[in-house]
Amino acid sequence: MANQEDQFKKLVAHCKEYGFIFQSSEIYDGLAATYDYGPYGVELKNNIKEYWWKSMVYHHENIVGIDAAIFMHPRTWKASGHVDAFNDPMIDNKDSKKRYRADVLVEEYLDKIEQKVNKELAKAAKRFGDSFDAAMYRQTNPRVKGYLEKHATIAKRLATAMTNSDLDDMKALIEELEIACPVSGSRNWTEVRQFNLMFSTQLGAVAGEEGKLYLRPETAQGIFVNFLNVQKSSRQKLPFGIAQIGKAFRNEIVARQFIFRMREFEQMEMQFFVRPGTQKEWYEKWKAARMQWHRAIGTPEDKLRFHDHDNLAHYADAAVDIQFEFPFGFKELEGIHSRTDFDLSSHQELSGRKLQYFDPEINESYVPYVVETSIGCDRMFLAALSQALREEVVPDAEGKDANRMVLKLHPVLAPVKCAVLPLLKNKEALTTKAREIFNRIKFSFNCQYDEKDAIGRRYRRQDAIGTPFCVTVDFETLEDDTVTIRERDSLAQRRIPIEQVEAVVLEGIDMRSLF
Ligand code: GAP
Repeated sequence: MANQEDQFKKLVAHCKEYGFIFQSSEIYDGLAATYDYGPYGVELKNNIKEYWWKSMVYHHENIVGIDAAIFMHPRTWKASGHVDAFNDPMIDNKDSKKRYRADVLVEEYLDKIEQKVNKELAKAAKRFGDSFDAAMYRQTNPRVKGYLEKHATIAKRLATAMTNSDLDDMKALIEELEIACPVSGSRNWTEVRQFNLMFSTQLGAVAGEEGKLYLRPETAQGIFVNFLNVQKSSRQKLPFGIAQIGKAFRNEIVARQFIFRMREFEQMEMQFFVRPGTQKEWYEKWKAARMQWHRAIGTPEDKLRFHDHDNLAHYADAAVDIQFEFPFGFKELEGIHSRTDFDLSSHQELSGRKLQYFDPEINESYVPYVVETSIGCDRMFLAALSQALREEVVPDAEGKDANRMVLKLHPVLAPVKCAVLPLLKNKEALTTKAREIFNRIKFSFNCQYDEKDAIGRRYRRQDAIGTPFCVTVDFETLEDDTVTIRERDSLAQRRIPIEQVEAVVLEGIDMRSLF
């Protein structure tokens, strides 16, 4: 665990040092849980969005995109249930005055039990060697069984308390488990209260409640209220989907773990409208498709898992998370929800406008059911970075061992695709040639010209930002128009003619390899 914490700290420091992520308003000591993306961060984020958008919108005849406004009519949030039910249970420690999410305190307790199980399994694996059967050990070892039973009982009680908004039982659970405040170490807790997560603001010209606006807490509602506009204008038949990427805002009680839980973040959501009764089938299809999307970009299978929701949101009849093993454990990366006709029916009722589809195949009008896939762009960014950042020992120019920090991002996601490096800075013939190459290939992908520092240091810098290809211009180049192209992961270097550089890089970063 200490090692994981260490790794996480390194990742946060790396993000700042290399211009991926900065604390928002840092010169004023920052604003909690709000971050700015730097020059490489914005590129990586755009590449994640492009990968998602293409896989959804360009590759499906029956999915189209929109970009709805962040502000929506206030009644939207009444209909969606967010005004009444978008709450988190909050608890304060009277000694430290720190505020916590009551369910998160219990979840952290559950994480600790899970860590104990993993420790026992690791110990046993070492003892039994190749013959070790982890599944069998979980079922038969009395200590592990005890941990697992305790875990299941607590998880079930928490889920019931959450589903029933039973704040008293949540408080009782915290007391029974003797959970202490991580800051003061005391168990001097307030009652558990509900806290609405929506940020509100005021429309300039209208005073009081009438002018109260919310910053959208999810992008999905912009899709629901536009359902008929989009369906009619794009002449789609059911089943069809609407995709959107955009900002969402939540006044999170505890916003920690860097960009994992932010107050302003970006979502990539797709609402898939289906005939009632077929939602289960589509739910399963989208579960499989989304897991495949994660694996295709190189996320190892053992870092991803499905996790069925223990307590369903107010709108869902089935829900699952795709969890990723972040440096602080397995946590939600994406949600797939079968949202029934809840949203469209509520909007229909509150707006008085019909939101129905006439299905020519069965000669019937109905309110469609919806299966949604919803992933946080920032969380995907953190997942991509945390699995890509490695510390390695590699041979340096003289063949000696040297440390390097390398971001082994999939080339499709890499912020810079190719760096063009003249061997020496003060040889004009080399820098002119290198700039010529840069100016030729810059129209095809994001590349970088760099002449500062020794060549070895420049390679290290490109490794640290994840650049898959480095092209070096040396004296041989001046004679025969060839360059050295170095590959980030294998460190293999080969000589190729200048006119092949663009094609080699394009082949290496081709998104088609993912589909
Ligand atoms: N429309 C459904 C919806 O919003 P959600 O599970 O609340 O569902 C979907 O959010 C995804 O948005 C999550 O899986 C996560 O990736 C991301 N997300 C939610 N809250 C976030 C936060 N505070 N900071 C960063 N990402 C967040």
